Amino acid sequence: MVIRAETPSDVAAIRCVHEAAFRQLQEADLIDAIRDQCYSLISLVAEEDGAILGHVLLSHLDVIAAGRSIRAAALGPIAVLPAHQNQGIGSSLIRRVLDQACSDGVAIVLVLGHPAYYPRFGFCAERARAMSSPYTCHGDAWMVAELIPGTLPQASSTVAYPAPWAMLD
Ligand SMILES: CC(C)(COP(=O)(O)OP(=O)(O)OC[C@H]1O[C@@H](n2cnc3c(N)ncnc32)[C@H](O)[C@@H]1OP(=O)(O)O)[C@@H](O)C(=O)NCCC(=O)NCCS
Repeated sequence: MVIRAETPSDVAAIRCVHEAAFRQLQEADLIDAIRDQCYSLISLVAEEDGAILGHVLLSHLDVIAAGRSIRAAALGPIAVLPAHQNQGIGSSLIRRVLDQACSDGVAIVLVLGHPAYYPRFGFCAERARAMSSPYTCHGDAWMVAELIPGTLPQASSTVAYPAPWAMLD
C-alpha cells in the first residue's frame, strides 16, 4: 500500500470510499465542496494495486485568539473502505497527514471524531474546551492537536469553519 497525494483522477474513487464508509453522501459532498471552494490543504489517498482504499482530507480553518490568527486546519473527513478497516490504514493516513501539516507550518489541527480513536494521534478534548466553535457542544468528540509546541491558544479562542461545513449541520 502507498500513501500519496490525491490527483484529479482520484475524485470519483474518493467519493466511493466515503459513501461506503459513512453509508451516506454528506461527507463525500463536504469533501467535494471543500475542494471546489479551495479550502483543501492536504488530501491523501491510500492506494493498493491501483485501488483507492482510504482517504483523508486536511483543510483550512480560521482560528483567532487574542486578536491574532493561528495557522490551523481541520482533520477529516477520513474514511477507509469497510472491507479494509482495522488494518492500520486509517492510522497511517492520519500520521502522514499530520507529519506533512507540521512540515507545512500548520500549528494546530482540530477534529470532530471518535473520542476513543484520535487521542492516540495527539488529539485532546480537554485542550479544545476553551475554543469556541459550532462543534464545542459535541463535548469529548471535539479535539485539538498542537503540532507546533506553544502555539495552542491559552485564552479563549474562536474557530470559524469555512462555508462548506454548514452542510454537516
Ligand atoms: C475511523 C476509520 C477511518 C479508521 O480507519 P481504520 O483503518 O479502520 O483504523 P486503524 O486500523 O488505523 O485503527 C483501528 C483502530 O481504530 C479503532 N476504531 C475504528 N473505528 C472506530 C470508531 N468508530 N470509534 C472508535 N474507534 C474506532 C478500532 O477500534 C481500532 O482500535 P485499536 O487499535 O485500539 O484496536 C475507519 O474505521 C472508517 O472509515 N470508519 C467509518 C467512517 C468514519 O467513522 N470516519 C471517521 C469519522 S470521525
